[in-house]
Amino acid sequence: MTPTLHEIADRVYPDGQHTRKPPSYLDTYQKILEPFQGKTISLLELGVHSGHSLLLWRAFLPDAHITGLDLREPPDNVTGLENVTYIRGRQEDVTVLDQTTAANGPFDLIVDDASHIGRLTKASYRHLFDHLKPGGLYIFEDIAASVRFPDWPDYAPMTRPADEGDRFPSYDVGMIGVLKQLVDDVALGKNDIASLTFFASMAVLTKAQG
Ligand SMILES: C[S@@+](CC[C@H](N)C(=O)[O-])C[C@H]1O[C@@H](n2cnc3c(N)ncnc32)[C@H](O)[C@@H]1O
Repeated sequence: MTPTLHEIADRVYPDGQHTRKPPSYLDTYQKILEPFQGKTISLLELGVHSGHSLLLWRAFLPDAHITGLDLREPPDNVTGLENVTYIRGRQEDVTVLDQTTAANGPFDLIVDDASHIGRLTKASYRHLFDHLKPGGLYIFEDIAASVRFPDWPDYAPMTRPADEGDRFPSYDVGMIGVLKQLVDDVALGKNDIASLTFFASMAVLTKAQG
């Protein structure tokens, strides 16, 4: 039996690794990725850092091809690994995104754990959505970055009152701003999106079957 993501994370991440995916993320991934186990699929992760999440996916989805993209030099632990491709570049650069799709697209799973800056996240999403397979998942991590961290590049506090007559609190920038645009698309039945589900600090979009 394949070990759980928590068990694999304990094995692959060194103690104190600050980029380790938190327990709530691993719970969510365990649920949403189980249906992909045993299938020959293609996964792209934007944001690799120390390489440990690529090792995590590789152990949990042994039949998958894993592609990682990051602006850093490739980490040693993923260099030369079978079924792992590393592409160096920026998530908002379409020529770099095209290298990922040419190498291993279309993708069943796309995980965005890179900049967590709204306009860069949106640039990747807009370009990569056409390279997501029908029924595939596009996962946005750390969606609260621009609400939570005052020093974040696109930080904007939620200053409006919680409820004021017919006005609802609104938040139009950062990761939340991008996701609100996607909520509009889902509500209007636009753009082949089957669902958009929110979890603690993560959102998972499922592409329609077509
Ligand atoms: C949170 S870390 C990734 C952690 C990794 N996914 C894990 O779970 O172990 C974010 C990474 O995104 C990369 N990054 C930040 N901005 C980026 C951009 N615009 N394009 C590509 N990578 C970027 C950083 O270099 C960093 O390595």
